[in-house]
Amino acid sequence: MKKIVIINGGPRKNMNTAAMTESFRKGVNSSDKNIEVKEYWLYDLDQYKGCISCMACKIKGKSSRVCKYKDALLPVLHEASEADGLVLASPIYMGDRTAMLQAFVERIVFPWLSYADGSIMAIKKMPVVFIYTMNASSEQAPIIHKQLELSEQMFGIALGQCERIEAFNTYQMKDYSRFEFAEGTAEAKQTYKDTHWENDLQNSFDAGKRMAEKIS
Ligand SMILES: Cc1cc2nc3c(=O)[nH]c(=O)nc-3n(C[C@H](O)[C@H](O)[C@H](O)COP(=O)(O)O)c2cc1C
Repeated sequence: MKKIVIINGGPRKNMNTAAMTESFRKGVNSSDKNIEVKEYWLYDLDQYKGCISCMACKIKGKSSRVCKYKDALLPVLHEASEADGLVLASPIYMGDRTAMLQAFVERIVFPWLSYADGSIMAIKKMPVVFIYTMNASSEQAPIIHKQLELSEQMFGIALGQCERIEAFNTYQMKDYSRFEFAEGTAEAKQTYKDTHWENDLQNSFDAGKRMAEKIS
């Protein structure tokens, strides 16, 4: 059975990023019900770190393209490395993916890099989709893209073709009346949501369908 692994780097299971991954999953299922879609919520993992620079993945004669550091993330890294398709999903925090997802990225990408010959190689090729949700508008997004590009390129080289799906100007909370926001924010957000959110979900659904078609 083929498997798609979704790594969700967002803390909220009932908001934007979660809805986008759910839509992705539905897209996969609409194309092929026999593909397993497994979602890992990084915030649920007990304890893990980013790369600790132990260099165990680069020891002479024992180098490895999967991280060797034993903590709660290691089984997830193995599963992601052996999947048929990979999705990395995150809200944008401080202009970048969340720290939890960035730690995952360090741990999965660093072992792919060879200091011996400069190559970037994973244990197998697979399609990758990045899903981001953010408060920024599409006009503001290029600053965020600059931050994401280098690591996304490494995924592209190691795993094959990458795709990026984004939802801009997201509805940040279910009830704006409880929070300090400039007057008119809730109404403006609602208007934007009414005209864009269905399309954002559809884009994620379509990406899921495309991935399923690629790996079936
Ligand atoms: C700590 C924090 C930092 C954020 N930083 C940014 C940012 O730099 N740029 C941006 O566009 N949105 C930023 N946001 C907004 C979120 O990216 C956006 O609301 C996202 O859709 C939330 O995803 P969720 O609903 O899945 O939690 C930030 C939100 C939080 C809580």
